[in-house]
Amino acid sequence: MYQVRNITKDLVWVGASDRRLALFENIFPISRGVSYNAYVLHDEKTVLLDTVDASVSGQFFENLEKTLNGKTLDYLIVNHMEPDHCAMIGDIVSRYPGVKIVGNAKTFTMMEQFFTFPIEERKIVVKEGDTLETGAHKLHFVMAPMVHWPEAMVTYDEKDKVLFSADGFGTFGALNGNIFADEVNFDRDWLDDARRYYTNIVGKYGPSVQTLLKKAATLDIQMICPLHGPIWRENLGYILEKYQKWSTYEAEDKAVAIMYASMYGNTASAVDALAGKLAEKGVKNIAVYDVSNVDISTLIGEIFRVSHLVFACPTYNAGIYPVMSNLFHDMKALNVQNKTVALMENGTWAATTAKQMRAELEQLKNMTILEQQITIKSAMKDAQEAELWQMAEEIAKGVLA
Ligand code: FEO
Repeated sequence: MYQVRNITKDLVWVGASDRRLALFENIFPISRGVSYNAYVLHDEKTVLLDTVDASVSGQFFENLEKTLNGKTLDYLIVNHMEPDHCAMIGDIVSRYPGVKIVGNAKTFTMMEQFFTFPIEERKIVVKEGDTLETGAHKLHFVMAPMVHWPEAMVTYDEKDKVLFSADGFGTFGALNGNIFADEVNFDRDWLDDARRYYTNIVGKYGPSVQTLLKKAATLDIQMICPLHGPIWRENLGYILEKYQKWSTYEAEDKAVAIMYASMYGNTASAVDALAGKLAEKGVKNIAVYDVSNVDISTLIGEIFRVSHLVFACPTYNAGIYPVMSNLFHDMKALNVQNKTVALMENGTWAATTAKQMRAELEQLKNMTILEQQITIKSAMKDAQEAELWQMAEEIAKGVLA
């Protein structure tokens, strides 16, 4: 059964959601599913903006054929060549042999790598500032390299003031009939997944996102149509502000998250004691995560969100506990910056991880690592309570400032 929705008089959502896929990019858990958005613009010429992942191809083609209602497809605009959006290009060409494909030079290099159909005869190569008139609508092409691949671009419809933003402003989460952000409780139900999507997938490329945001600021944008998740037609400032913070690595919340590894519960116990003392000092909404039991993508989202972090970790094979080590690897890969951090280590005969974690964190930009660090020898004893109070005091001072 088809499922399409009109966005404007001329623009129709023809995407689809996948609630069966366990791991997006075969790495990120998506318990709420994911949507692959595609859009059809009806004008003197018909235009499809991006395709979808192969997993939802059946639904997509049913939607596409319904909205075209016997008309042919004149243009396919390819804003992004990652297979979750480009997978159906070959099938589009088979079904609509007269279709012209619009992309930039890098788009077509990648298309030739992914596909075998004849591309040359149907390609229209665009560059920054080029336009395509389809009748009443005039589409502008804006390059968005590294948001999130080098060939990424966005398309702006001058008539309806719509920005087709590719991966930008996307999020994990299936669309459940409500395709607009103003039809859902975004802050309550979507923000965590939007942050997790941004920080894990585009987080590394903050400066590229900043470049795109600056270009977007020169356009009169009334609506943002991303390739994943809800469409923004109200309160665009909400999501733009989030993107501004995420892409400049500025904390969203003055808050603390404690991330610990604990093999037998002793490090966890010390962390709980610290969390209690932070609460006594007036810190609210403290987040505590066992890194072995929370997906790393969630931890990364939280690391971007908060201003203050505590890492607590036992020694393992004379080094950082492997799960925590992976987290540091990801933090570095994703360019985490601008955090205040406190460290706790645990070791029965060789507690060395505070020094090792400090060395890892010092490689990140603008990290304030508290001089005080707590060493636990197997299990924390009451005699160390003063150290906990001191650490709690120092963190609370920063969070509550
Ligand atoms: Fe949704 Fe970079 O692909």
